[in-house]
Amino acid sequence: MYLNRESPIGVFDSGIGGLSVLRHVRTLLPNESLLYFADSGFAPYGEKPEAVIVERTVSIAAFLLTQNIKALVVACNTATAAAIAGLRSRYPDLPVVGVEPGLKPAAALTRSCTIGVLATANTLASEKFLKLQAQVAQDSGVNFLLQACNGLAHQIEKGELSSRETRQLVTQYVAPLVIQQADTLVLGCTHYPFVEPLIREAAGPNVRIVDTGEPVARQLRRVLEQHDLLRDASRTGQLLAYTTGSSSTLSLAFSKLLQLEATVHAVSSAQMTH
Ligand code: DGL
Repeated sequence: MYLNRESPIGVFDSGIGGLSVLRHVRTLLPNESLLYFADSGFAPYGEKPEAVIVERTVSIAAFLLTQNIKALVVACNTATAAAIAGLRSRYPDLPVVGVEPGLKPAAALTRSCTIGVLATANTLASEKFLKLQAQVAQDSGVNFLLQACNGLAHQIEKGELSSRETRQLVTQYVAPLVIQQADTLVLGCTHYPFVEPLIREAAGPNVRIVDTGEPVARQLRRVLEQHDLLRDASRTGQLLAYTTGSSSTLSLAFSKLLQLEATVHAVSSAQMTH
């Protein structure tokens, strides 16, 4: 596999959630061109069978490789948990960066030693997550309260960032964690930073919130450095996006959530067969 320094970086998610990672990548690596892929036609992933997520992830990676990417960011906790190991063995030469819930940073922050983890049901049930949880719990002695937030990514995907229904869901998931003394909440799904104001409102002023968007961008920079794939500082990064859902919805998400203009193309299943 020939990787070109001038090529773009692929960033993908089940939908618009990965934009919460992309914004940090843009800030940290302004010279890099980015290809964002939203699998909104198949979102949410959070309650789908693992085999479906693996299949979607492999097709998306193959599609992005036809667009000549030099690295891939799996900006989705659910897809990382289900499919990153398979992706790495399929494309051993491609730098692949995943996201996982920030349990370690949360363990360093908590005073009550009780941490709430908000994520999809699939992420919380995955072997990868359970292993991480056991390791961090053993190393730090903290207690994790796992909360699957069924339906929340779907609300965000619909653009309902502050509707009554979304607020109700957030309260239903967050309030019991605070009652059980959680003083730190981990956003274990890349969609959730877009409802952080609601999460803060439900959690109260003393609860800290951990998001991994920025550490993922830093990890990406490290990996590109190691592979000598960082673009020259004189270059200007371009932004292009693909979606299996509606292109106007994704354009709107870019401008509403990130205040960015992106050229968005709709991708059909026929263009994605691998
Ligand atoms: N944004 C994704 C994650 O980080 C998945 C949400 C979903 O599609 O259910 O887990």
